[in-house]
Amino acid sequence: MSHSELSEPYAAERESSRPLVVIRRRSGTGLRRTIPRVLALLDRAIVRLLPAVPRPVVQRLSSRYIAGPNLEDALRVVRELNAQGKLATIDVLGEEVSSDDEARAIAGQYHDVLAELDAAGLDAGVSVKLTALGLELDHDLCRDNLEAVVRDAAARGRFVRIDMEDSSTTERTLQLYRLMRDEGYANVGAVLQAYMRRTLEDASGIDNVRLCKGIYVEPYSIAYRDFDEVRANYVRTLEQLVAQGAYVGIATHDEYLIEQALRVVRAAGLSHDQYEFQMLLGVRPERGDALVADGHRLRIYVPFGTHWYEYSLRRLQENPKIAGYVAGDTVRGLLGR
Ligand code: FDA
Repeated sequence: MSHSELSEPYAAERESSRPLVVIRRRSGTGLRRTIPRVLALLDRAIVRLLPAVPRPVVQRLSSRYIAGPNLEDALRVVRELNAQGKLATIDVLGEEVSSDDEARAIAGQYHDVLAELDAAGLDAGVSVKLTALGLELDHDLCRDNLEAVVRDAAARGRFVRIDMEDSSTTERTLQLYRLMRDEGYANVGAVLQAYMRRTLEDASGIDNVRLCKGIYVEPYSIAYRDFDEVRANYVRTLEQLVAQGAYVGIATHDEYLIEQALRVVRAAGLSHDQYEFQMLLGVRPERGDALVADGHRLRIYVPFGTHWYEYSLRRLQENPKIAGYVAGDTVRGLLGR
């Protein structure tokens, strides 16, 4: 089995921002233009209202993004992905933990994940959120939990990706990542968010990184907010990472960025084992299939567990068709189906 996230170096149109004007026209062309604009307007309103949507509705709508409540669900999904030539990284949902015991329990679940991945012979690593391991509760507890997971994974030849959360955690997360590397663990990697203004600087010296746009709401003073600026910083950072020889997990479903990434890796003459694409479970699977068919490595982020709410809200807020889904679910609910 190749633990490809280990291989290097371990082997180691979103709606425009123009104001939306709904013009009533009777012609078919007019309607064709008006309906998408109304939907886009509705999408934005629903994204703002998502926290008010009842939890059972959020759970139904987000089920495509989450393997299920149990480890068996995640293992079943990873088995299917592996059979399709895709790699995986398993996330134990748990960012809502509020006690030391809960944080230890999440760490314990990661040990179970690692053991079961071995037992099942599956090609996957794990992704951890430091808040789930206790970052906001007790720094030492978080470090100990992280180190225990990284050590266990290293013994099994598996990779641990430290997810990046909101900006209040950026510095502490990068410090703990560097601490693990300084302690000799090569099976651990960081995540950089292209919307953060500091990212290009943070990229310097990092040799194994997942690059994503970033999902948390951050102030303008520290983060790009303009869609095209985020894309531009993504490409700049990717170019720098590739130039410094980093192994990059290119995490995006944005067609423009996928095309730019293909250009960058081709121009650098990278072989298929020197980078990978990464996508979220349930998002653009057909594009993922095409990348795999073209010979690229693709890793799917597979979350499971009972702490599904925050993750689900983030995925729903990014779904361009959220208004249609919420409306459809409401109608089905009214019809009792
Ligand atoms: P964008 O949001 O513009 O989406 C591009 C297109 O993809 C959309 O037009 C739509 O077609 C489709 N799409 C995207 N999201 C969808 C959804 N939920 N439902 C349906 N279709 C959707 N962030 C972070 O801050 N820290 C982290 O550690 C990570 N980790 C991470 C791992 C992996 C593997 C991925 C792919 C992403 C992350 N992210 C993340 C999330 C990331 O920052 C970003 O919020 C999402 O990937 C969406 O950004 P895109 O680049 O896909 O562009």
